[in-house]
Amino acid sequence: MARYLVTGGCGFIGSHLIERLLAAGDEVRVLDDLSTGKHENLPDGVPVMVGDVADADAVRAAMSGEDGKGVDGCFHLAAVASVDRSREAWLETHHANLSGTIAVFDAARRANPAGPIPVIYASSAAVYGDNPDMPLSEDAATRPLSAYGADKLGCELHARVADGVHGVPTAGFRFFNVYGPRQDPKSPYSGVISIFAGRIARGEPITVNGDGEQVRDFIFVKDLVRYLTAAMGHPQPGAPVYNVCTGRPTSVNRLAEVLAELSGRPLDRRYGPARPGDIRVSIGDPTRLVTAFGMSCDTPLEDGLRQTLAWL
Ligand code: NAD
Ligand code: UD1
Repeated sequence: MARYLVTGGCGFIGSHLIERLLAAGDEVRVLDDLSTGKHENLPDGVPVMVGDVADADAVRAAMSGEDGKGVDGCFHLAAVASVDRSREAWLETHHANLSGTIAVFDAARRANPAGPIPVIYASSAAVYGDNPDMPLSEDAATRPLSAYGADKLGCELHARVADGVHGVPTAGFRFFNVYGPRQDPKSPYSGVISIFAGRIARGEPITVNGDGEQVRDFIFVKDLVRYLTAAMGHPQPGAPVYNVCTGRPTSVNRLAEVLAELSGRPLDRRYGPARPGDIRVSIGDPTRLVTAFGMSCDTPLEDGLRQTLAWL
């Protein structure tokens, strides 16, 4: 049994990770400011410290624990996950997304008298920006289009510092578009699948940004969290980064049609302006991920969408 801190643990991906850690018999505590996360996403009994991940004292306190028991590692997921929100609130999201990550690495180097603890953190496919070399391998050039993508790239650069200068083992995961139960269907800053699924299920119209032919590589959340726990078990030197993707493209238009079909509802689709800073095509190459961990993201989109609709 190990003890872990999960930052952003009350959020969508964090809650699935915690479910997996508890099932494996691990002990978990959470640092979350509840800006988008909710207590209800977690089972009873998981200790939640409400605080800002960019507040160095809060992160240190969360790592040392109220009972004085430190942690064996940290899963760092706390961030403002919305690209659109990073456009509206540039500096505020930068504090959470980049300063927050540095605060986590900095606390990890002193968290344990026995030495630095590993940090497994969420990066994003947004680091590739408008790179047209599809499918994107981890060696593809990074050209972020958004403040969000720029800060996630900054997290990866600071992970190299954490590893090379401070001896903090890290692994970064460039999640492509993650979906599944507990992704908030009511927030305009949520992912497209939860927004469309929620609106279609309620009989409301959906708005497609631009012509709807932009393409994404959608990952089912339960496939993703397996990599995070596997990486914690085998920390590697050199601050590696991995795509988490399927390599399969789906357009926003097609997604809307499949969701309407699966929910047995008519599709009321309206077209609005394209979103500034929106990436046109995002498809990942999963080769490095599959080679390193021996498993692929294999939940078919329709199965994952069915599970998402069933949760609503
Ligand atoms: P989410 O909004 O559900 O979860 C983020 C959590 O972080 C929430 O619980 C929120 O309350 C918390 N948080 C935000 N700012 C904080 C702060 N300053 N201090 C403490 N807690 C804070 O989003 P998610 O989809 O679960 O995203 C989790 C991570 O994965 C994020 O780092 C996000 O950037 C990354 N990511 C998500 C996707 C995706 O498609 N959902 C893709 C790539 C990367
Ligand atoms: C998403 C994640 C981001 C992650 C990135 C990795 C969320 C909120 N964002 O960003 O954290 O780093 O993937 O690839 O999970 N769209 C519509 N109508 C809507 C909502 C969205 O047409 O009502 C379109 C968007 O313009 C975009 C596509 O759907 O073209 C996907 O949007 P979104 O779910 O917000 O994801 P990304 O911006 O790709």
